Amino acid sequence: MNQIYNKKTVLITGGSRGIGAATAKEFASHGYNIIINYVENDFQAQNIRQEILSKYDVKVTLVKADVSQEKDIEKMISTIKKEYETIDCLINNAGIAIDTTLEDKTVANFHQILDVNLIGPFLMSKYIGQLMLEQGYGRIVNISSTNGIDSYYPYSMDYDASKAGLISLTHNFAIQYAPHIQVNCVAPGWVNTEMNKELEKEYIAEENKHILLKRFAEPEEIAETIYFAATASYLNDAIIKIDGGRI
Ligand SMILES: NC(=O)c1ccc[n+]([C@@H]2O[C@H](COP(=O)([O-])OP(=O)(O)OC[C@H]3O[C@@H](n4cnc5c(N)ncnc54)[C@H](OP(=O)(O)O)[C@@H]3O)[C@@H](O)[C@H]2O)c1
Repeated sequence: MNQIYNKKTVLITGGSRGIGAATAKEFASHGYNIIINYVENDFQAQNIRQEILSKYDVKVTLVKADVSQEKDIEKMISTIKKEYETIDCLINNAGIAIDTTLEDKTVANFHQILDVNLIGPFLMSKYIGQLMLEQGYGRIVNISSTNGIDSYYPYSMDYDASKAGLISLTHNFAIQYAPHIQVNCVAPGWVNTEMNKELEKEYIAEENKHILLKRFAEPEEIAETIYFAATASYLNDAIIKIDGGRI
């Protein structure tokens, strides 16, 4: 068999940019074949694929699918099964936020956020978990947020609730899949990605005062921890907070 087909494989949702793209590069640097899921941004997905292929001797597959839609996930799984025999790691990273005042918050937007940030990881963990159980092993890492633990922002109360829910999901899937699949969670604080591109300089400076490292994280710094959470041998049902130290 070709060497590339003997490698381990990671599936990263929302891997076209930000933390997901950095995670794809991190895993590729450790020799993993990479499956990048995304929903819209073909251009950025192609770019990250090309970047990885130019640096590493791994396979990179792009799968466009909305993780909040069960039919999309079923299609994604059948595509993946044709190309890969096993999925070693699943990183539930895709996420959205819609920051507004309370007056502007709508039930439709709340549902949209829950569908992507919570139902998405539920569906992915259910379907990919089944494959992992059949192969007898697997690792799942959910990307939550300190907003789901102890950093609350009324402008993103819907997002914060989705991220708290993802922590609960982590515990339940860890129990459900033990001892075959290890399920962990990484909860970042502020990270320099497009998700935060509209924050004003003054707001960022104010937030930085509460961070011991006095800056937002770079996506690559979160990716290192995600890789650790996906590969550390005795880590299970853990919630790893990575926020530069927050006071
Ligand atoms: N940035 C932060 O400060 C921060 C802090 C804590 C936690 N997080 C969490 O970390 C994760 C990544 O955040 P990020 O800042 O890297 O986000 P980002 O730069 O906004 O990228 C979001 C990614 O998710 C994908 N995506 C969005 N909706 C999707 C859907 N329905 N189905 C499949 N993919 C979808 C996007 O694909 P397209 O490119 O196709 O749109 C993109 O790849 C999120 O779960 C976020 O909540 C972020």
